[in-house]
Amino acid sequence: MARPKVTVSRRLPAAVEQQLQERYDITLNAGDDRLSADALAVALDSSDALVSTLGDPISADLLGRCRPRAQIIAHFGVGYDNIDVTAARTMGITVTNTPGVLTEDTADLTIALLLASARRMSEGDRELRAGNWTGWRPTHLLGTRLSGKRLGLVGFGRIAQAVARRARLGFGMQVHAWSRSLTDDVAAQHGIQRIADLDDLLGSSDFVSLHVPGNADTLHLIDAARLARIPAHAHLVNTARGSVVDQEALIDALTYRRIAGAGLDVFEHEPAVPAELLALPNVCAIPHMASATVESRTAMGMLVIENLDAFFAGQQPPNRVN
Ligand code: GLV
Repeated sequence: MARPKVTVSRRLPAAVEQQLQERYDITLNAGDDRLSADALAVALDSSDALVSTLGDPISADLLGRCRPRAQIIAHFGVGYDNIDVTAARTMGITVTNTPGVLTEDTADLTIALLLASARRMSEGDRELRAGNWTGWRPTHLLGTRLSGKRLGLVGFGRIAQAVARRARLGFGMQVHAWSRSLTDDVAAQHGIQRIADLDDLLGSSDFVSLHVPGNADTLHLIDAARLARIPAHAHLVNTARGSVVDQEALIDALTYRRIAGAGLDVFEHEPAVPAELLALPNVCAIPHMASATVESRTAMGMLVIENLDAFFAGQQPPNRVN
């Protein structure tokens, strides 16, 4: 029997590409450029499976434009807000994702951004590289400490839980969280406090970290009004999705120091990042790399393969989302 034809939208770690090649008739994106809508449509039309990544917008429109031969979109990533999973389901296309395996590394990077923002690391780095450092002095680049402070988690899924553990046990922070599905019992099991109202959580946090998925419900969840709830001494970290924050309002809040700083891994219109945001001294900005370790990215690829293997063996893929 002919091997299923699989198109992979971006380069994957070598070990993953090798395993895919051993099992499937693979089309790789040798140049690793972002695929155009036309190229994605061709991939869906001509392959049994598409391995997508988060830069690939797979809208109802795109799916409607082609007569997909693809029966499965095995997405490389935990968040799949780039895919209209309902439209895919209507067309009989299974969508899978890669949860769990990137949790610890994403939590690590969240803590790194909390520290970077609190301790003004990006500002110091820029000063040094610009040749503007005049030497050690007692009042230079004073930041704020994490220990003993209140961390407010918006959302309490796997990654937020891993952040909570690090923040409590590693940094002695008090952690509280808001999530629609969080109960007091679950919060107590994690040694944190549940806050029923998002505005109350924002208003009583020294640090706020976002951990909700990107979707229609969370679009601009943190808007100008919610940013105004965050105390002026507090820092905001986003390793979730750029769409969760009204980026224009965030730039305003940071410019006028209505919040102290931000650590950002994600942006509203990636890969575009406004120059005004990058110019701000109180922003540490990194290019969507929270899961970017060899370990996480390899494990994500292996999960993509598990999903494909199960699907083509006629079984339910372990990480089906639609
Ligand atoms: C990265 O942002 C992912 O969703 O895996």
